Amino acid sequence: MQEIIRQLEEKRAAARLGGGQRRIDAQHAKGKLTARERIELLLDEGSFEEWDMFVEHRCNDFGMSEQTVPGDGVVTGYGTINGRLVFVFSQDFSVFGGSLSESHAEKICKVMDQAMKVGAPVIGLNDSGGARIQEGVASLAGYAEVFQRNVMASGVVPQLSVIMGPCAGGAVYSPAMTDFIVMVKDTSYMFVTGPEVVKTVTQETVTQEELGGAVTHTTKSSVADLAYENDVAALEQTRRLFDFLPASNRERPPERPTSDTIERVEMSLDTLIPTDPLKPYDMKELIEKVVDEGDFFEIQPDFAKNIVVGFARVDGAPVGIVANQPMVLAGCLDIDSSRKGARFVRFCDCFNIPIVTFVDVPGFLPGTAQEYGGIIKHGAKLLFAYAEATVPKVTVITRKAYGGAYDVMSSKHLRGDVNFAWPTAEIAVMGPKGAVEIIFRSEIGDSEKIEERTEEYRTKFANPFIAGHRGFIDDVIMPHNTRWRIAKSLAMLRDKELENPWKKHSNIPL
Ligand code: HXC
Repeated sequence: MQEIIRQLEEKRAAARLGGGQRRIDAQHAKGKLTARERIELLLDEGSFEEWDMFVEHRCNDFGMSEQTVPGDGVVTGYGTINGRLVFVFSQDFSVFGGSLSESHAEKICKVMDQAMKVGAPVIGLNDSGGARIQEGVASLAGYAEVFQRNVMASGVVPQLSVIMGPCAGGAVYSPAMTDFIVMVKDTSYMFVTGPEVVKTVTQETVTQEELGGAVTHTTKSSVADLAYENDVAALEQTRRLFDFLPASNRERPPERPTSDTIERVEMSLDTLIPTDPLKPYDMKELIEKVVDEGDFFEIQPDFAKNIVVGFARVDGAPVGIVANQPMVLAGCLDIDSSRKGARFVRFCDCFNIPIVTFVDVPGFLPGTAQEYGGIIKHGAKLLFAYAEATVPKVTVITRKAYGGAYDVMSSKHLRGDVNFAWPTAEIAVMGPKGAVEIIFRSEIGDSEKIEERTEEYRTKFANPFIAGHRGFIDDVIMPHNTRWRIAKSLAMLRDKELENPWKKHSNIPL
């Protein structure tokens, strides 16, 4: 018996050593942690239960039968984050460069299948040279098995990807289909084809970092949602993000006690809106003053900054915040901000997270670049997402809500449950100046008259009361009471029930 136990311990030790000390040292020298160190940081201490430590590859070609490493390049299992169950896989770059073999893929599929059965999120820590070259099509099949599971799990359990090393070729498509992608600056990259292929095909010279690094994907492509300086920060923030999410679409998001009372008033909000309608203000200030303890976890903070999205809590319960940002492009909707907002709204709706929308939008961005880029289809995504969403929707119009963008931004007409306006709200087809230039075109030469007409239009339409008369606005609220009014609305909506008609799935404009 003693001997058997010793053998087991030996096998375990061999598995824990992965590709060996030399390769572990090389990993550390690059500023990267090992697969197991990452799991330790991600999960609660001592909570990790490992599976399939003794799985080995089955490849006999290219001398592979002499090179087997227990675990085969990926550490899998489950554990907890702040006491809540989560399944994980962490690719081990020290074993064949973390490349994906048939067995490696089977291990990932096993945790994904189990996560679906019990209703718990999956977090993948990616650090891989891609398909295990020695295995050929068996590896490609393995990827496809993972892809299929990513799709089946989408909208059922949250899936998070943390890219902590290479992720190239078709391998990028598994993270791409998960809900959020976190990247580590300088040590991770994602691209469909690397710099050498790019050089050959398009003659462009580009570094790995420029082509697919964390900064590129969080500022230019929007493939990734968040970028952090190193592994430790990325894993810490992934834990923070996880805390806002329910375990599955069958649950509510987790509540957390707070000492921040819902009655808290914020007098400074009464002066947030500048007197000059053309002057911007920082929408994030409003968000932070309204939510519990000023704790706002922003998603895609460096992309399409004209819309702000992210998670926060109100009275302890998670909410998704969507807000136009007047500081950037006057808060208008364009292709990028519509896509960003739409995806976030759909995530919240999948996972029972109420949506709070703050509106200050002058309309859609004009121009050939936008039209040729398909703003019609992309803008429709945001409209579609809001209209389809059945979670509680609370909307606050702070200033401008002009034209189609008024309709889009969680208006009453798209089944907004509670729609508030601040007294500074201007709800109209367009701004006073533009409106007068169209309806009083013949008077354009007469500046005095135009001034008069503009003022008349402003008094008549640039306020929340016309919408209020029709019941499109449930109430005009004092800015300092915003937190309290939102909290009361969300409490009222807690058990909201609304179902869309049966369908196989909708056909959102892609
Ligand atoms: C098998 C691999 C491997 C792979 C790396 N290794 N990638 N083994 N299959 N795909 C091994 C190396 O042989 C080496 O083994 C160890 O991992 C570390 O690799 P290095 O090259 O020394 O590391 P580094 O210099 O950091 O470079 C990392 C790398 C490079 C950029 C990822 O290894 C690389 O270019 N690998 C090939 C990438 C690739 O073409 N993959 C297939 C893509 S196609 P030793 O024993 O020396 O430590 C694909 C399709 C997916 O993935 C399709 C899905 C549908």
